[in-house]
Amino acid sequence: MAEQTEAVHGTWSNRWIFILAATGSAVGLGNIWKFPYITGENGGGAFVLLYLVCIVLVGIPIMMGEVLIGRRGKLSPMESMRTLAKEAGASRLWRFVGWMGAIAGFLILSYYSVIAGWALIYVYRLGSGQLDGIGAVESEAMFNDLLADPVTLGLLHTAFMVMTMVVVARGVNKGIESAIRVLMPTLFVLLIVLLGYSLNSGGFEEGAKFLFTFDFSKLSGESVLVAMGHAFFTLSLGMGAIMVYGAYMPKDASIASTVVTVAALDTLVALAAGLAIFPIVFANNMEPSAGPGLMFVTLPVAFGQMAGGTIFGALFFLLVTFAAWSSSISLIEPLVAWCVEKSIASRPVVAAVLGLITWTLGIGTVLSFNEWSDVEFLLGKNFFDSIDYLTANIMLPLGGLLIAIFAGWSMRRSTVQKELNMDSFLLYNLWTVVVRLVAPTAVIVVVVWTLFQDQIVAILGLE
Ligand code: TRP
Repeated sequence: MAEQTEAVHGTWSNRWIFILAATGSAVGLGNIWKFPYITGENGGGAFVLLYLVCIVLVGIPIMMGEVLIGRRGKLSPMESMRTLAKEAGASRLWRFVGWMGAIAGFLILSYYSVIAGWALIYVYRLGSGQLDGIGAVESEAMFNDLLADPVTLGLLHTAFMVMTMVVVARGVNKGIESAIRVLMPTLFVLLIVLLGYSLNSGGFEEGAKFLFTFDFSKLSGESVLVAMGHAFFTLSLGMGAIMVYGAYMPKDASIASTVVTVAALDTLVALAAGLAIFPIVFANNMEPSAGPGLMFVTLPVAFGQMAGGTIFGALFFLLVTFAAWSSSISLIEPLVAWCVEKSIASRPVVAAVLGLITWTLGIGTVLSFNEWSDVEFLLGKNFFDSIDYLTANIMLPLGGLLIAIFAGWSMRRSTVQKELNMDSFLLYNLWTVVVRLVAPTAVIVVVVWTLFQDQIVAILGLE
């Protein structure tokens, strides 16, 4: 089977390339844009703690499961799940887990691209000096003007979709692999520069306190779901992205240490982003709960005051764009890999068609910030919020749950043990318990409780 995959898709040159690619997928808008803003909306520290618990207890074990399935199956998630289910004598229905994931990825990409477009225009705005010395109020007004303009948003979305599909069309190896090698370390350095600024901004203490003081009274039931959903989102889990990257992973690399490295890097970037953004929020009397605009409103204020802010600022948003770019590719790769395997069309044609469909759906998100901002789709939410909620809080956890059950219960123990090849028997057993029981229970409890909170409370007569 291995030779067949290499013929179809290719393999990463070594373990480090897998780490880079998986980190490239994991580190994206989720870390720099979404994590700070949902932390702000959910009251800070207690939410951060919950998110960290979810990364360790649910994220890492399930990520190991995904890589394991991918590397064993060697094909797109749909086909890997199908062949492995057959190998284990399990139901053919398992391949639908691959399908649900592929659809989730495509839905996420449709809005991801719109947000990445904002980063794109901020490269220009900062680089051209338009934001020099800008205050919080002006910065906010500027951002709101952007959101009110569907044409600009649409054009930026178009540009980002084209960037994504060009790389996908060329195959992952040639395009993104070499770019990421340079970009990820640079992003890290720039985050440290920003941290240095916010340390001296006068709001650092308050910012750090907001992130790391655990006030559980600020948490709602929905916060728990958001924290868990975000653990899936930020690690690119639950939809086969990591599975398809695992399929290109060399046989001899250790899954456990690789996965822990990726998760640790991802978490570090998110925390660094939070520590860079919140001090600026407090130093300028802004609101931590500002929502999706948080990063785009706060950071220009900081860069506008900083020496060399024009260059650093433009560079920073350029790197955010790149981080988003390396993530967006993995969102559509499972679907593309499947179409290529089935010889439906050549990779470039598949990329163009899927790109066009995703682009069209993305227009719904573009309009959510202006014309359609009050049009309700699901649960009283507008189009963008609906897709975000449905994918991150429901489809990804559900996908992750099924992946955990498959890796924990359906696959043969001998197969799993051989793929994971862990030196420590204790750690292997620990993983087994977590992936069989702890992670599935956590996901079920959180999703069911949040969705049916009112009914449960009524039935149990808790009030
Ligand atoms: N993890 C990326 C981020 O944090 C987003 C992403 C890429 C993703 N691929 C994914 C999310 C697959 C869920 C599933 O920005």
